Amino acid sequence: MRTMVIAGNWKMNTTTSEAAALASAIAEAPRHERVQLALCPPFVYIDRVRQALEQTAVAVGAQNCWHEPKGAFTGEVSASMLADMGCRYVIIGHSERRTLFAETDDTVNLKLRAALSCGLIPILCVGETLHEREQNETFAVIQRQMQSGLQGVEGVNGSTLVVAYEPVWAIGTGRAATSAQAQEVHAYIRSLLETLYGSAIAQSIAVLYGGSVTPDNAVELLSQSDVDGGLVGGASLKAESFLRIAEAAYNVLST
Ligand code: PGA
Repeated sequence: MRTMVIAGNWKMNTTTSEAAALASAIAEAPRHERVQLALCPPFVYIDRVRQALEQTAVAVGAQNCWHEPKGAFTGEVSASMLADMGCRYVIIGHSERRTLFAETDDTVNLKLRAALSCGLIPILCVGETLHEREQNETFAVIQRQMQSGLQGVEGVNGSTLVVAYEPVWAIGTGRAATSAQAQEVHAYIRSLLETLYGSAIAQSIAVLYGGSVTPDNAVELLSQSDVDGGLVGGASLKAESFLRIAEAAYNVLST
């Protein structure tokens, strides 16, 4: 049985006090043994958010990392530093990193391996652009991003790796994928994981959907058999909407 993950990607938002207030409000979420909540604030607020979440079941994550453990990499933060700060998750290869910060499939792979080696759970993001979808390249893009992102990665399972399908055209646009579009790609991602790691492990790995998830569409998306949670941007910046998405996950699991 897979655990669902509902992770908030705060992107470059909040102040210290907003981060603390948001995390404290989400810390009140009821515990559910099969739903893991996680918050990924900007680096500078990780410690503050971690403090607000102490003694709760809500985990802290980061939005990016650098693959070298330390050294002359001005402005970067290593995976080992994130682990040291109490992070459990790190988002790797988000489409904004790929397009705005020139991350390649190769750097995504290096970062993912660094995260794993530090005991962090990478949330590997994959997804096609609108142009690629219209050219019927969705599966080819997903296959390339999955295979290169996981190149040389062995020994992972549902406790150590999370994948997020984030169609680029759905991110921040208010235009989420339909549940059928999401399920189709999630099933494909599961089949790729099966080829790489075998059926039992593929079944154990949570594949999250990201891209305009809201309290209104969460039940429909999360009800799909291969959708195991959400990577939530805009709707994670309000405690009320994030908690309603978490509740949607609880409801889906109890039906
Ligand atoms: P969104 O962002 O929910 O605002 O579309 C999702 C993401 O980028 O992870």
